[in-house]
Amino acid sequence: MAFNNQHFTDMSDYINLVRERNREYEASCGRPPLAYVLTFGCQQNEADSERIAGMAQSMGYKLTGSAEESDLIVINTCAVRDHAEKKALSIIGQFKHVKNARPGVLIGVCGCMTAQQHRIDELKNSYPYVDFTLEPALLHRLPEAVFRALSGEKRTFWVGGEEKIIEDVPVRRESSYKAWVSIMYGCNNFCSYCIVPHVRGRERSRDSSQIYREVRALVESGYKDITLLGQNVNSYKSDCDFSALLKKLCSIDGDFKLHFMTSHPKDVPDSLISTIAENEKIARHFHLPLQSGSDRILAAMNRRYTTRHYMSILEKLRALLPDIVVTTDIIVGFPGETDEDFEGTLDIIRRARFDMIFSFIYSKRKSTPAERMENQIPPAVKSERYERLTALQNSISKEKNRQLLDKTVKVLVEGESKNNPDVYAGRTEGGKIVHFKAESILPGSYAYIKINRAEAFALYGELQNKILYNLGEN
Ligand code: 5AD
Ligand code: SF4
Repeated sequence: MAFNNQHFTDMSDYINLVRERNREYEASCGRPPLAYVLTFGCQQNEADSERIAGMAQSMGYKLTGSAEESDLIVINTCAVRDHAEKKALSIIGQFKHVKNARPGVLIGVCGCMTAQQHRIDELKNSYPYVDFTLEPALLHRLPEAVFRALSGEKRTFWVGGEEKIIEDVPVRRESSYKAWVSIMYGCNNFCSYCIVPHVRGRERSRDSSQIYREVRALVESGYKDITLLGQNVNSYKSDCDFSALLKKLCSIDGDFKLHFMTSHPKDVPDSLISTIAENEKIARHFHLPLQSGSDRILAAMNRRYTTRHYMSILEKLRALLPDIVVTTDIIVGFPGETDEDFEGTLDIIRRARFDMIFSFIYSKRKSTPAERMENQIPPAVKSERYERLTALQNSISKEKNRQLLDKTVKVLVEGESKNNPDVYAGRTEGGKIVHFKAESILPGSYAYIKINRAEAFALYGELQNKILYNLGEN
């Protein structure tokens, strides 16, 4: 079903209509209706889910952690790799029992999976208890989808996202000190392995004044870590470019750090590097996906840069900011990747000395150019390469972390460790996890920790001092 603007009534009208019904529900049941939101995938999806939860709350739903007791279930799916889709489908399958037990429950599926026709067909035909789907560009139409489903309209599979950006969608943030702020949506790059441009549409950037307003409000209410999100933030373009946006946001008063992700190596001008160096409010962390260490494979991936260009960015970055934390994404087993290509990746990993890498086994995505390429790599070869890559990087990560031994680092406290309430976890500006003992320290505070143990994935240390922000007791 495609929608055009003629059918569009304001999101807030539908919010009010559903809230009215939910008031009646509450009056008859003695409790508000409950909503459950389940999220798969990347930070963009987490940010989208905060908007789903915000819209649900505005419609009069109370959020719950239990699908079994809820009246509205929304599953926010990911399509970037096959595994994520299979997992989502398997969980959606389990919700059949909830619908059988309580036929009044509404089940909606949104996110990247629902922008693909073959998945819509699958949900339509094999998951009859799914009431609606909503592709990412139509997320703000959740209240309308819920209203129509509550009104007994037949199942709708919403595609045909408008390209325009809807501001002021209600948001319910998970954290009181860490926030996502989407600065743009979609992607124009069409890397040959990637589904994202096919499911999230073309690039569109928010006005810098809207972003400024959102970030300033967050800082004023005590947020300390703000991550600007986009598939390729470097190509942010509205009334200003990305470097200018960063500068504008750094002019906001307050003690906070700006993070951003993700960057594309073809779009990192020197001016961006100097903007980072000149503004202390920008976190000393750069996530710069490399994907492969072979120029032949990079060309086949349609990445439009060479390993030499990539290394030149790293050099410039480290010349100005020697301690900057650099992380990357690597795909192993792209079609046609030979042993020599893979050795090229290991070689650049040794030279680049990333603090951490996110490594992925290539996963065939429907309708992408790489799906049709010859020489798909056998699973056993992909797994073996993945193991070798992660073993190499683990030793480098550990060595890099060991450079912090006996140093004191500032961390933003995230909370008690799951297994031991005496141990707290926090993150450095570069995103490294630090564990330390403390009697009582609130999430969202800053603490200074002297590092006494360093592993590949975590640092350990002793609390030196703590500064309590956000709590009115500095
Ligand atoms: N297979 C494996 N990894 C992928 N990524 C994107 N598409 C695929 C795919 N088809 C990885 C890239 C990207 C990260 C978010 O996910 O490394 O940077
Ligand atoms: Fe996918 Fe490439 Fe766009 Fe990143 S830049 S979302 S990898 S197409």
